[in-house]
Amino acid sequence: MTIAAIDSHTTLYGVIGDPVRHSKSPVMMNRAFAETGVNGAYMAFHITPPMLKDFIGGVRAMGIAGVNVTIPHKQEVIPFLDEIDASAQAIGAVNTIVNRDGRLTGYNTDGIGYVRSLKEEATAELEGKTILLLGAGGAARGIIHALVKERPGRLVISNRTSDKAQALAAAYEDKGELVPISQAELSHWCGQADIVINTTSIGMHPLVDALPMDPAWLRPDTVVSDLIYNPLKTSLLKEAEARGCRIHGGLGMFIYQGAYAFEYWTGKPAPAAAMRESVLAALGQS
Ligand code: ATR
Repeated sequence: MTIAAIDSHTTLYGVIGDPVRHSKSPVMMNRAFAETGVNGAYMAFHITPPMLKDFIGGVRAMGIAGVNVTIPHKQEVIPFLDEIDASAQAIGAVNTIVNRDGRLTGYNTDGIGYVRSLKEEATAELEGKTILLLGAGGAARGIIHALVKERPGRLVISNRTSDKAQALAAAYEDKGELVPISQAELSHWCGQADIVINTTSIGMHPLVDALPMDPAWLRPDTVVSDLIYNPLKTSLLKEAEARGCRIHGGLGMFIYQGAYAFEYWTGKPAPAAAMRESVLAALGQS
């Protein structure tokens, strides 16, 4: 840990969550500041729901320049901000706050971070592709919002609770071909998919053996992506890799949602490779 560079011009940034002590954002963002010569310091703040309003008052009072927002505050923070970017408004959740001279604007970089990661790390071209999403929760919504801008041929949505898949497809029906499906149709659509994306928590630590679908349905030329990054390679990804599929883990989404936040705050290109290296080191994987 180095604090030698902090001086009376250092700008403060941070992440809020409850819990927050597991967060790798401080390691990643402080590395990004160091790489780019930004005089910033990034801290993790444990903010419980009753403290949220006061925290935002503190952001204004202290001139905290940027904040990342995680569970359980992504929706609840919205009424305390001055402006909500159109995408964050449509997704209904904020993960990044930018403080411009006391005016606080909320953004959502999760979906665009995921799509940038998918394109840079797994498959550059999404136009015309058939993409199967497993899950229809908040994460799926953010990803669909970003994916429709890539003009995929078809977005197929499968969810345990089929009403939610239908509602999500209906919300974006004017943006492309969205197909809500039942669990019974999943094997068929798996065979049609160019890309399968798991947005559910199935397979996340500690229940690492759980699978969101039967991997036997996957074609070897399908790209299989999982939003989960703990573990870095989920059971779904292991099974997909064994069948010859190209795989894409969730770490990239975390890196690039942070890269966009860094770029919004500083106006500088994010040092994504160094950010990834720092997170992998913090996870004990370097
Ligand atoms: P997030 O913001 O991470 O997307 P969420 O909004 O609670 O969290 O959504 C979780 C998603 O994972 C949902 O699609 C959920 O399915 P339901 O809508 O049927 O609840 C899915 N999910 C979570 N655990 C699941 C399980 N054990 N089996 C099937 N789906 C599951």
